[in-house]
Amino acid sequence: LDNGLGKTPQMGWNSWNHFGCRINETVIRETADALISTGLAKAGYTYVNVDDCWASTRDSTTKFIQPDPSTFPSGMAALADYVHSRGLLFGLYSDAGYETCAGRPGSFGYEDIDAHVYAQWKVDYLKYDNCNSRPTNCTIKERYERMRDALNRTGRPIFYSACEWGEMLPALWFQSVANSWRTTGDIVDTWLLMLLNIDINNLFWSFAAPHGFNDPDMLEIGNGGMTYNEYRTHMSLWSIAKAPLLIGCDVRNISKESLELLTNPEVIAVNQDPLGLQGKKVRIDPYNGTEVWAGPLVNGSMAVVAFNRNNDVSQAVVVSFSDLGWKTTSQVNVRDLWARQDLGQFQGNYTALNIEPHGVQMLKMTLIALE
Ligand code: GLA
Repeated sequence: LDNGLGKTPQMGWNSWNHFGCRINETVIRETADALISTGLAKAGYTYVNVDDCWASTRDSTTKFIQPDPSTFPSGMAALADYVHSRGLLFGLYSDAGYETCAGRPGSFGYEDIDAHVYAQWKVDYLKYDNCNSRPTNCTIKERYERMRDALNRTGRPIFYSACEWGEMLPALWFQSVANSWRTTGDIVDTWLLMLLNIDINNLFWSFAAPHGFNDPDMLEIGNGGMTYNEYRTHMSLWSIAKAPLLIGCDVRNISKESLELLTNPEVIAVNQDPLGLQGKKVRIDPYNGTEVWAGPLVNGSMAVVAFNRNNDVSQAVVVSFSDLGWKTTSQVNVRDLWARQDLGQFQGNYTALNIEPHGVQMLKMTLIALE
């Protein structure tokens, strides 16, 4: 959706993966503070997004949506002001049906009223879910377009994130509807379900571009269900796939290791590359379980993830330059992005040695112009 937003994938934090419905204004304010004090905001994570369970009922006369008075007693305008005062952006969640997934009021039939209220509160981002939407007299697309148009009519730039779980293949037709669209069901903080989401998302690589990105759901780094190496793979794959980087842990108590995974500037630079094209699997070896993911960056370089998907053995992953669209005789400069180190020049292919099970080496490759 070309509303001026989402030129590169959105970065920030969202309450759902860690807190679910156990949110309140203190948690959100402390999270905004923590994004600053940890350096995450500086690394690019600027949206502070409140997911489901912030709303209670509609005012019986104005129909304005009311925040839950027990958890957000100061109201959303005050919270947005607080987040803005920290130099960050503020996001909310609603639903294109009668009720949200957690049973709070949905926006169907109230799109203009809700958009107006969000704009008054100075909301910068809306995640729009698809629960409890039947029966309406509208198609899914119409329901999402109604909110797009309502947000547009407010005149306030509001990032529009569609959360339809990929069932209607939104990647095929949401380019004019939203700034990002979910391609999958909800992520779960396990190795196999993380991979399931990024594998499904990969099918739609060709439909992502600036202002409209595929969304395999939010990050689980810091939530404890995977090992350090597995989270490093999670971050690498999300980055190369141009997925939204929305932190899903409690950043008030984040570990040094999680911070390191979330703030590597060279890995983030792949995700935020101005070309905005999604990297994809270019080579699968079904016998040993190795994969090569690759995608173009500005100025002709390629981002590459050499991935050992094998559960048991460390092994080499071969990146053949012909898989990147280059001649087999090409001379290529290779840089290790996690280590932030040049590895040298290679001809024909590069072999990532001794990659541990579930591990990756993430690389930037640049063709050397020959005389
Ligand atoms: C759906 C969405 C999640 C989250 C919950 C909230 O499951 O996919 O990301 O927003 O609803 O209830």
